[in-house]
Amino acid sequence: MPLTDTLNRPLRDLRISVTDRCNFRCVYCMPKEIFGPDYQFLPRAEILTFEEITRLARIFVGFGARKIRLTGGEPLVRRDLHLLISMLSAIPDVDLTLTTNGSLLARQARLLKDAGLKRVTVSLDSLDNETFKALNDVDFPVEKVLEGMDAAAEVGLLPIKVNMVVKRGVNESSILPMARFFRKKGYILRFIEYMDVGNTNGWRMNDVVPAVEIIKTINAEMPLEPLEPSYRGEVANRWRYKDGSGEIGVVASVTQPFCRDCNRARLSAEGALYTCLFAVKGNDLRALLRGGASDDEISQSIMRVWNNRSDRYSELRSENTASLPKVEMSHIGG
Ligand code: GTP
Ligand code: 5AD
Ligand code: SF4
Ligand code: SF4
Repeated sequence: MPLTDTLNRPLRDLRISVTDRCNFRCVYCMPKEIFGPDYQFLPRAEILTFEEITRLARIFVGFGARKIRLTGGEPLVRRDLHLLISMLSAIPDVDLTLTTNGSLLARQARLLKDAGLKRVTVSLDSLDNETFKALNDVDFPVEKVLEGMDAAAEVGLLPIKVNMVVKRGVNESSILPMARFFRKKGYILRFIEYMDVGNTNGWRMNDVVPAVEIIKTINAEMPLEPLEPSYRGEVANRWRYKDGSGEIGVVASVTQPFCRDCNRARLSAEGALYTCLFAVKGNDLRALLRGGASDDEISQSIMRVWNNRSDRYSELRSENTASLPKVEMSHIGG
């Protein structure tokens, strides 16, 4: 039975965080001052098992979810993730994908593909090692991420999408080199406006490079034309190179919010359902799972949450809302 919220938005996309841990410390996501050696990550017992995740995923698909994206933290640091992929890929009619930093992808690509993963999105913020290392803050080299993407392409996890968060004064100068490089490669590069997710990254409006500026920069060298969205509520605005050499995307959640069509539900690693990336609190589904609730009872609870949903944070964003308490991105994925 299809669900709708108070703004008449359906539930189509389920994003599942499988761990709150990550082997990177991107300055805009898990700054070291907060996520240092003393940071308390979720203990194993509090994290949903693969069986629990799959049970919930089936219920969400029953409500109309057509895409499942695994996120983290970094999803590939969760042990035996391919086993979860095989369980989820048994659910029919689902676009099963994953967002990763690429560091462990070369090693796992074949296993993930064989388990039934369809495609991957890999984050990479620069081709310049100095810039990239300053952003990931763990001295991780660009080449390794590229190896991961290529391994994924080789086993057919296609199309490969690449997410680049653009931060003013930090990696703006990487926009053109990234566009040139991935156009040649045939991977779909998406530029993401730096967002005020969580409360630890010290976001300021001045740090945002607006999507129009990014498009203008690329268009001046490699002419672009807009493309229609490939589905309703698509996050990225799509553009193609006029010479037919490929496409790019821009995720303009700060300057052109897209809450109106937001059909995304997020499940945190410990089993809380979030109805917005910028939510303060989730709705505890784990208590139901572990308290012996039936599928029907769990469905009722999800239905109540979604029916009451009114989130549209990006449309209401201002310098003032940036300081409101919010869940960290590493807790619910992107
Ligand atoms: P496709 O399935 O390939 O269309 O991918 P996608 O664009 O849905 O997924 P992806 O996770 O790659 O999204 C790109 C980026 O956009 C994320 O990493 C976030 O930074 C941002 N983003 C995704 N969903 C939302 C959202 O609901 N709200 C906001 N404000 N930003 C989002
Ligand atoms: N603003 C925009 N995108 C972000 N991501 C992480 N933190 C932020 C932020 N503050 C992106 C990552 C990755 C995806 C999971 O979310 O780079 O592509
Ligand atoms: Fe890890 Fe991704 Fe966050 Fe970077 S953006 S710290 S890779 S979860
Ligand atoms: Fe959806 Fe919230 Fe993002 Fe708006 S801000 S698009 S409601 S997740």
